Amino acid sequence: MKVNEIFNLAIKKGIEADFRGEEGIEKLLKRRREKFERLSESEKEEFDKEIFENPYLDSRILHIAQDKEIKKVLVGIDIEPAEILLAKEIGGIDLIIAHHPLGKGLAHLPDVMDLQCDVLNYYGVPINIAEGLMKERISEVARGLNAINHQRTVDTAKLLGISLMNSHTPCDNLAAKFLKDLIKKEKDNLIRLENLLNLLKEIPEYKEAMKIGAGPKIFVGEPERKCGKIAITEITGGTEGSPKLYEKMATAGIGTIIGMHISEEHKKEAEAANINVVIAGHISSDSLGMNLFLDELEKRDIEIIPCSGLIRISRIS
Ligand SMILES: [Fe+2]
Repeated sequence: MKVNEIFNLAIKKGIEADFRGEEGIEKLLKRRREKFERLSESEKEEFDKEIFENPYLDSRILHIAQDKEIKKVLVGIDIEPAEILLAKEIGGIDLIIAHHPLGKGLAHLPDVMDLQCDVLNYYGVPINIAEGLMKERISEVARGLNAINHQRTVDTAKLLGISLMNSHTPCDNLAAKFLKDLIKKEKDNLIRLENLLNLLKEIPEYKEAMKIGAGPKIFVGEPERKCGKIAITEITGGTEGSPKLYEKMATAGIGTIIGMHISEEHKKEAEAANINVVIAGHISSDSLGMNLFLDELEKRDIEIIPCSGLIRISRIS
């Protein structure tokens, strides 16, 4: 497989696991094409044409040093210049795969946050409320990312001649789908928060994270409190949504949410809305999503070297 094929496979897997379904994604790409057609010639020139094919703009091919068959990849959650130097030191690395966005993927992180509106709507929050509250939050995230040195790691990869790509939302979609399916299968046994916590603790990535004190934890609620309706609203969709959404989630009938991480402001709002919050763990949840994709590469005989926090668990028997 070449870099392009690996990247396209990540996008394909992300679409298959997407809450909006393959049809929903097709509609999204069609709408982007229609909007493009309405632009003036000069506006069309500024346009990033990749948006017609790739629904996840936080995930990109950032550099192709040599367009060759990929046999060995270095994979990490956060890739920084240090990891690029590490690849050079290890030697024989054909491609580095990052999870968190880099370069123009990072600049476009806010673009994937719309996904959260549809996820919230799936769990019963009216779409107008989800869109209204997320709009404010998306622009806040965009402003925050504006000042970042987006290309630092990409420049290092170019200077050292190493191919680099990242897969963020496609892999977060895989983690969200995995958890959603598991919750659905076990729903009769998930009465109280302690049941949910114990279920998460059985997942190998979380089990491994527990060894360093970063396992699943209840951030809001008590172990003996009842879960009510469990929603996977904070695993995929770029980054944290609006703190004002918890009250709306409670009204929509959600009792417990499973997230990767949560800020203090969000935690306080969840508490005020009586929403239980179970935090599965950040890097471990990122690892889970990456692993489900990396298994596809392993099946194709690509050697995977984990770094930068990735807890590599293979599910290929
Ligand atoms: Fe993450």
